[in-house]
Amino acid sequence: MPERLAEMLLDLWTPLIILWITLPPCIFMAPMNHSQVLMSGSPLELNRLGEEQRILNRSKRGWVWNQMFVLEEFSGPEPILVGRLHTDLDPGSKKIKYILSGDGAGTIFQINDVTGDIHAIKRLDREEKAEYTLTAQAVDWETSKPLEPPSEFIIKVQDINDNAPEFLNGPYHATVPEMSILGTSVTNVTATDADDPVYGNSAKLVYSILEGQPYFSIEPETAIIKTALPNMDREAKEEYLVVIQAKDMGGHSGGLSGTTTLTVTLTDVNDNPPKFAQSLYHFSVPEDVVLGTAIGRVKANDQDIGENAQSSYDIIDGDGTALFEITSDAQAQDGIIRLRKPLDFETKKSYTLKVEAANVHIDPRFSSRGPFKDTATVKIVVEDADEPPVFSSPTYLLEVHENAALNSVIGQVTARDPDITSSPIRFSIDRHTDLERQFNINADDGKITLATPLDRELSMWHNITIIATEIRNHSQISRVPVAIKVLDVNDNAPEFASEYEAFLCENGKPGQVIQTVSAMDKDDPKNGHYFLYSLLPEMVNNPNFTIKKNEDNSLSILAKHNGFNRQKQEVYLLPIVISDSGNPPLSSTSTLTIRVCGCSNDGVVQSCNVEAYVLPIGLSMGALIAILACIILLLVIVVLFVTLRRHKNEPLIIKDDEDVRENIIRYDDEGGGEEDTEAFDIATLQNPDGINGFLPHHRRGLLGGISPDAV
Ligand SMILES: *[C@@H]1O[C@H](CO)[C@@H](O)[C@H](O)[C@H]1NC(C)=O
Ligand SMILES: *[C@@H]1O[C@H](CO)[C@@H](O)[C@H](O)[C@H]1NC(C)=O
Repeated sequence: MPERLAEMLLDLWTPLIILWITLPPCIFMAPMNHSQVLMSGSPLELNRLGEEQRILNRSKRGWVWNQMFVLEEFSGPEPILVGRLHTDLDPGSKKIKYILSGDGAGTIFQINDVTGDIHAIKRLDREEKAEYTLTAQAVDWETSKPLEPPSEFIIKVQDINDNAPEFLNGPYHATVPEMSILGTSVTNVTATDADDPVYGNSAKLVYSILEGQPYFSIEPETAIIKTALPNMDREAKEEYLVVIQAKDMGGHSGGLSGTTTLTVTLTDVNDNPPKFAQSLYHFSVPEDVVLGTAIGRVKANDQDIGENAQSSYDIIDGDGTALFEITSDAQAQDGIIRLRKPLDFETKKSYTLKVEAANVHIDPRFSSRGPFKDTATVKIVVEDADEPPVFSSPTYLLEVHENAALNSVIGQVTARDPDITSSPIRFSIDRHTDLERQFNINADDGKITLATPLDRELSMWHNITIIATEIRNHSQISRVPVAIKVLDVNDNAPEFASEYEAFLCENGKPGQVIQTVSAMDKDDPKNGHYFLYSLLPEMVNNPNFTIKKNEDNSLSILAKHNGFNRQKQEVYLLPIVISDSGNPPLSSTSTLTIRVCGCSNDGVVQSCNVEAYVLPIGLSMGALIAILACIILLLVIVVLFVTLRRHKNEPLIIKDDEDVRENIIRYDDEGGGEEDTEAFDIATLQNPDGINGFLPHHRRGLLGGISPDAV
C-alpha cells in the first residue's frame, strides 16, 4: 500500500508547483501533505531545499505537506526566512508574481513576490499564537490574472523553552498526623509549564525539594510529598516549611525552574499522658460551707491538645471519699473538688484524698507507653466555724392530756452549741406559732409547760416552733418544730345524735319499735365508743314503753301495749340515760318525745293532733276564762261592726276569709301568746275541709306548744 502511494505521487509530480523550504529548523519537519495536494488538486506544493527525495519517502507515512515552521522568539538582525513558494508551471514569456494573504500576511509574514521567499518580520510567540493560516497564489505579473487556484497552507510557530514551570496554586498548606510512619503521604503539588507539552522537553517537569529535608521527600514525577522521617513529634515541632522546585527539560541543566512553598502542620495524636502539676495539693474549708461548694481545683497538664488533652478526674482513695467529690471541667481541663456531705470540725479536722486524672480519648497505638493517667494527693483541712445550736432531735412530738394541770411540764427540748467554746443556750417559743400563748418554755432547760387549759375537742394539735439561741452570740439561732398532740380525756357525756321525735300509731301493736335512736360523744376514746342506755330508775317499770339496745350501739324504743289514744294522752316524754365507756364514765339524760298519731291500716302516720275544737286538757281554769272573755269580746266587736255597716247600708258579707283569720290571730296574740295560735288551728279556719289539721311536719310548733304539765 505505501509503495503504491509513492508511485502515484511520482506520476503526479511534474505538473505541481513545488514550494522549497530552506530553513534549517525545518530539516526535521515534513512540510507537505501529499494526499491533500492530490485531493485538492492544488498546483502549489510545499517543499524543502534538497529534500525532495526524503519528503517523498516520508510521504509514505502521511506527513502533512502544506505546513511551514518558524521558530518562536527568534530575534536575529535580519527577518527570518520561513520558506519559499515556487511553481514549476511553465510561465512561458510571462513573469510570475507570488501573492500571500491570510493570518498576518503583510504584517507578520512578508513575501518576496518575485522569488516567493516568505520572511517573518516580527518576533513570534508560540504561547501567544501557535499557528497561522495563509493562502498563496501565483498570478501573471502583468495582468495579475491567477495562473492557478489559490492554495492554503499553515505556518506553525515552533516551541522553544521560553516558559518556566509555575505553581499556580501555591503556596500550599497540608497537615499530617504526628507520629506517622515513614513515607506517609502528605499532599501533592502541581506545576504547569506553558511550553509545548508534546514537542521536546520544554514542558517535561521534574520535582525536587530545596528545603524541608530530611523531614519530607517528593516523588520527582508525581510531586507526591511524603514524610521522610518516622515519628515526627508535634510537641517538639509543629510546623515545617518545605520549598519545592519544579524544573523543565526533564530536570536537565539549562532547564527553567519554578518554586513554591508548602507549610506542613503536624496534627495532634494522643501520645502524651496527663501529668499533675503538683503531686500534693493543700486546701482548707470552713466546716459550715454549703454543700456543693467548690473547695479547690487540681489540674493535670497534657502536652497534647484538644480532646487528646482531655482528662477525667476521680477520687480513687482516701478517708474523705464519702464527703467529697471531684468533677471534671472540660473547659479548663481541671478537676473541681466539691463538698458532698456536711463537715464537722469537732468530729474530724482533716481529710486526705487520692485523685486521679485519666485521658478520656486513648490512642491504642500508644497505650503500650504506659497508663495515660496520673495521681496526686489532696489534703483538706477543716476549719472551725461558729455554728448555731443543735437540737437533740430534728423534730419533737409531745403528748399531753387535755385535762393536764396548768404549769405542768409537757415535755422538754434540748440543744447544745457544737463549737468547742460551747456557749450556753436559751430557749424561747416562736410566738407566731403559739398565738394563744398556750405554752411556756423554761429558757434555761427547755421544759415546755402548759399556760392555758387545753381542749382536745377544740384543737387536737398545737404545732409550735422552739428557738434556741446561743447566749454568747445571739446571731447563732436554731429552730425546731414541736408538735404537741392533745390526748383525749373523757370529759364529754354522750347525748342523742340528733333531736329525735317519735310517732306512735294508735292502732300499733305491742312490742312494735317506735323509734331507733343513736348517741354521740365528742370525746375520742382509743377503742371507740360503747354506749349504755337505760331508763331513769323511777321509770324502769314504765308500763307504756321499753328499750332494747342494738348491736350497732343504737337503741330501739318499743311500745309495750296497744290501745294508745291521742284523745286520752297526746304526747309521752321518755327520758333516756346514755353513758359512755370512759373511766370514769360520763352520762346524760336525753328525753324522747313520743307523739300519738292516727295512722292508716298499714301504719302510715296521718294525723297527730286532737281536733282544733278540743281544748287542751291541761289548760287552767284561768286560761279558759280568759279565752271565753276573748270570745265574748270578739262577738261584741263583730256585732258592733255589723251594726255600723248596716248603718252605712252596706251588705253584711265578709268576703275575705283572710280578714277574719287575721283578726282572730291578732286577738289571740293578746291572750295565749304566739305559740297558742297553733292550738286554734289556723289551717282549719283557712281551709274548713282540712280535717286532718296538724300534720307531723309542723314539729317545732307542736313541741313548743305543749307545756310539760299538759302530759
Ligand atoms: C401538727 O403536726 C402533726 C405531726 O407532724 C401533724 O400530723 C398535724 O397535722 C399538724 N397539725 C397542724 C394543725 O398543723
Ligand atoms: C302510761 O300511760 C298511761 C295512759 O296512757 C298514763 O296514765 C301513765 O302515766 C303512763 N305512764 C308512764 C310512766 O308514762
